[in-house]
Amino acid sequence: MSESKKKKQKTAEGVDDGAGGVNPWTGRPYTPKYYEILSKRKGLPVWQQQKEFTETLAKNQTLILVGETGSGKTTQIPQFVVEAGYTNDGKMCVCTQPRRVAAMSVARRVADEMDVNIGEEVGYSIRFEEATGPKTFMKYSTDGMLLREAMTDPLLSRYSVIVIDEAHERTLATDVLFGLLKEVLLKREDLKVVVMSATLEAEKFQGYFLEAPLMRVPGRLHPVEIFYTQDPERDYLEAAIRTAVQIHACEPPGDILIFLTGEEEIEDACMKIRREIGNAGDKVGDVKVVPLYASLPPQQQQRIFDEAPPPRNGIAGRKIVVSTNIAETSLTIDGIVYVMDPGFSKQKVYNPRIRVESLLVSPISRASAHQRAGRAGRTRPGKCFRLYTEASFKKDLQEQTYPEILRSNLGSVVLQLKKLGIDDLVHFDFMDPPAPETLMRALELLNYLGALDDDGNLTQVGTVMSEFPLDPQLAKMVCVSPQFKCANEILTITAMLSVPNPFIRPRDQQKEADDAKAQFSHVEGDHLTLLNAYHAFKQNGEDSQWAWNNYLNFRAMKSADNVRSQLMRIANRYNMNLQSTEFTSRDYYLNIRKAILSGYFMQVAHLERKGSYLTVKDNQEVSLHPSTCLDNKPQWVVYNEFVLTTKNYIRTCTTVEGAWLIEIAPHYFDLSNFPACEALQVLQRLYAKKK
Ligand SMILES: Nc1ncnc2c1ncn2[C@@H]1O[C@H](COP(=O)(O)OP(=O)(O)O)[C@@H](O)[C@H]1O
Ligand SMILES: [Mg+2]
Repeated sequence: MSESKKKKQKTAEGVDDGAGGVNPWTGRPYTPKYYEILSKRKGLPVWQQQKEFTETLAKNQTLILVGETGSGKTTQIPQFVVEAGYTNDGKMCVCTQPRRVAAMSVARRVADEMDVNIGEEVGYSIRFEEATGPKTFMKYSTDGMLLREAMTDPLLSRYSVIVIDEAHERTLATDVLFGLLKEVLLKREDLKVVVMSATLEAEKFQGYFLEAPLMRVPGRLHPVEIFYTQDPERDYLEAAIRTAVQIHACEPPGDILIFLTGEEEIEDACMKIRREIGNAGDKVGDVKVVPLYASLPPQQQQRIFDEAPPPRNGIAGRKIVVSTNIAETSLTIDGIVYVMDPGFSKQKVYNPRIRVESLLVSPISRASAHQRAGRAGRTRPGKCFRLYTEASFKKDLQEQTYPEILRSNLGSVVLQLKKLGIDDLVHFDFMDPPAPETLMRALELLNYLGALDDDGNLTQVGTVMSEFPLDPQLAKMVCVSPQFKCANEILTITAMLSVPNPFIRPRDQQKEADDAKAQFSHVEGDHLTLLNAYHAFKQNGEDSQWAWNNYLNFRAMKSADNVRSQLMRIANRYNMNLQSTEFTSRDYYLNIRKAILSGYFMQVAHLERKGSYLTVKDNQEVSLHPSTCLDNKPQWVVYNEFVLTTKNYIRTCTTVEGAWLIEIAPHYFDLSNFPACEALQVLQRLYAKKK
């Protein structure tokens, strides 16, 4: 009997129930852990529906599945697909996740559930990290990575079943995948697509997917009592901490989940909660306070699944999870009874008029608020504390969050679609078509970068750019770097820009941290400072203790190193000339700065006479971000990022020369359509001088 037939027979029997069974995937006896998890899996609502799911999938090409968070969709459905035999003839099942954290965490969990090693039979793929192998038949992937795969394999022929999970999130990549899949489904009758979601406008999805059948997983939600504040809270962070401490002192046992917006805020809250509860001493139970956000190392992320601490003096212990939106639907934490919802999350916003995309702390939607509250009722009746007024809930929050495609810069997506051969973007079947102005801005950007010609066709450099999993401007910078004899250095800078901020600055050691950073600081700018930090890290043998002593985030540095080697692999595929200018040459840094400008000439700011900066052409008033190492305000800077807060900042800035602007990007700094400003006058003089 062939290997695949053997598997087929075993899988047809479904999962193994009794002790002493042999795992068909590995040939090894099941471990006790397998049986332990199995008993939990059997309690999941979706468990009852395996037969119904398998039969419906057999009869239809597309299937929509809706069920409350925690009902077992993400972990069980791909296993049902495998057990139904769809992966027996060498094809795979892929399940997409909007978030890297979720893809990794769920893949690990499912590998445990199936009693196999992660990266072998079950794997994951996220940007810059591929944990799959020749034996992999099921994987979790970010939606962005699957989209990227479509560029080299437009029919996604490696997959027999594609599960698009968390469809309600309507991320940019998920929306584009929807459009692509609709076309692929017509060309591949053997392909099946399952669309899964927590809450979703089911009719809208059914309409879009040509009346695909809808399956509902019956919820098992306990009632959740909602509390609003009487008056608006001036400081939601302080209110959240205060409420958590009160709950811990007064309410019956049950874990707490607090939604905040980002890493810094979350770490700050964790520290304060620990301190305040610590001050109460033995009068209250023990607590375990755990943060959860995307850039947290995986082992620490796993701590959200730990048990609450044991009772102390007869008072029950409690787990307090302080999380970003990840815990809203992506990851289910059992045992939560109290939820604190301040009503905000970090959301992407894009203003096509001034071409600025930024992450902004914004009010959530009523749909999100509903999801958050639901997290309290997973195990038993719970309570949700909304740190805003009921009037505000009804009046200020919008019903649904806008799909990301309506609030994003589409440069990357348009480049990818062009690579996929989709030329007619206007008639592409988007579930919600993006604004024409946004599409136009994306085409304009790609044209200025030379990725598209004047007829909108992909150029040679555009093709190479699309191969890099980077924003078009970064990709362009990499592609031109050999011309400036600095590809090695540009790859490093690109890698450093692609990982979380490597410079650590603890609140109580700011001076020490700043002194440490000053060792790497380069007078000409932050990009070069990143380069110096990387070189120093390598020279010190990638030592974690050294990184710690120098206030560098070791994980970020290691991850930059990994990103760099992956970028290098792509560069080698295209025979890019990876050389450096002599370090002693005065052109060493100059060339690097020119290469940066070649990618980012659309992000330049000019120092005005009154002492502030104005972004060139868009004329937005900005300041250098306080983290910059530039201490003399240079006349021209190129910047990596526009940060919108109460004040507009440009972050990661490097000095450039005015003369380079008209040398490197004359087509962009064409004065015939240039708004009146001081920069215009300077450029006019520079052009005159050149003549
Ligand atoms: N890494 C993990 N460790 C422990 N339990 C987990 C882990 N990941 C998921 N679970 C559990 O698996 C169950 C099902 O979750 P999931 O399949 O994600 O549901 P859904 O996708 O419907 O929201 C939940 O009870 C959750 O707590
Ligand atoms: Mg899920």
